Amino acid sequence: MADLRINLAGIKSPNPFWLASAPPTNSGYQVQRAFEAGWGGAVWKTLGDPILNVSSRFAAVSFNGQRVAGFNNIELITDRPLEVNLKEIYETKKKFPDHAIIASLMVEPKQEKWHEIVKRVEDVGVDGLELNFGCPHGMAERGMGAASGQVPDLVEKQTYWAKEVAKTPVIVKLTPNITDITVTAEAAVRGGADAVSMINTINSLAGVDINSWNTIPHVAGKGAHGGYCGPAVKPIALNMVAECARSPHINVPISGMGGVSNWQEAVEFMLMGATGVQVCTAAMHHGFRIVEDMLDGLNNYLDERGIAKVSDLVGKAVPKYSDWGNLDLNYKVVARIDPNTCINCNKCHISCEDTSHQCIDMLKDSSGKPYLQVREEDCVGCNLCSIVCPVDGAISMVEVASEQPPMTWNERQAALAMTSAQKLDV
Ligand SMILES: Cc1cc2nc3c(=O)[nH]c(=O)nc-3n(C[C@H](O)[C@H](O)[C@H](O)COP(=O)(O)O)c2cc1C
Repeated sequence: MADLRINLAGIKSPNPFWLASAPPTNSGYQVQRAFEAGWGGAVWKTLGDPILNVSSRFAAVSFNGQRVAGFNNIELITDRPLEVNLKEIYETKKKFPDHAIIASLMVEPKQEKWHEIVKRVEDVGVDGLELNFGCPHGMAERGMGAASGQVPDLVEKQTYWAKEVAKTPVIVKLTPNITDITVTAEAAVRGGADAVSMINTINSLAGVDINSWNTIPHVAGKGAHGGYCGPAVKPIALNMVAECARSPHINVPISGMGGVSNWQEAVEFMLMGATGVQVCTAAMHHGFRIVEDMLDGLNNYLDERGIAKVSDLVGKAVPKYSDWGNLDLNYKVVARIDPNTCINCNKCHISCEDTSHQCIDMLKDSSGKPYLQVREEDCVGCNLCSIVCPVDGAISMVEVASEQPPMTWNERQAALAMTSAQKLDV
């Protein structure tokens, strides 16, 4: 069995699966049950000045029969008194000394407020702190959460204030509601962050009821933007993790989250630079026991590949992620249709004909039976036909030899610049 332990900036955990700061980590009762189920760590539901919540606060987007393809909420931070949370954190840590308990914190952007809360939570034995600069609603309107997290100076300053007194590692949780997450990640690093985590939720409105014209969800007929998470946000989160992982200025560990629902997605995040993952929506949808499959799947994956430690996965795919200008312009794939598997539904023909490069012909064989064939010389390898094809294996994208040597856009531009410089010399 592979070694699943991780060490994220000094925070040790028996495995890379943590529950994210959210409803699943709202109380000692829940976190203890989660640890019993197999979760390696938990980021406690954000502590701060307890707030009032509204009733009716979640909504989900179901897509083509998949329930909770995306999840939207207008919930705020903890609504339980700090003393109660601290007592339960203390008790939980006592019972589970080897599991990671991280306190998520959000206070007003004032030095004394950060000093006070950091000292109070560290007194009860947390393994680390996560500064919540990400919640997009409610708290942001009071200058906290994403409102702080969108201003690099405030991220840096508040991280610095927390670090002034913190004895445990400080993770800074970033908001995705920003153009370039590396800017705020760098600010966190400048402030002394020991790690960064991402993503918090994305500004969203789940829907509008077309009969009542109310927003979904609504509170007595009024709505407000919420935060989006769950499977739909995974590609956005994965890119943000990867962008931070490949930045030479963000040389701290990353705790990745956003749409992680199974072990395969956890592996993707780790390959793209996350030391471990956090999960919220999938646990809310399916319960704590999903971690059993995650642990089994990850163990098998590592064993099958002879990888001794899960930490050996971290960042392995990062060198493969680059700028568009470094992609080989002469690399070519084309679509090939397997006539024995194809059911002649024509979906590929229609999408290619209407919206791509018109290179799938509808032909008939000698007996008059219809079949579809790609004119490879006209195929640009966009993948659309294989994406819309409903039958696995009916269309494959195959690599074809290029007549040209590899050449990236950047190399091409450099070569052109060199040629014009030479012409000028002459
Ligand atoms: C109902 C709900 C409440 C949340 N509350 C918090 C919170 O208090 N603090 C925080 O940092 N993130 C909070 N989050 C965000 C999650 O921790 C996580 O960043 C986000 O949901 C992405 O992960 P997921 O796609 O696995 O859900 C909340 C998310 C949900 C759905």
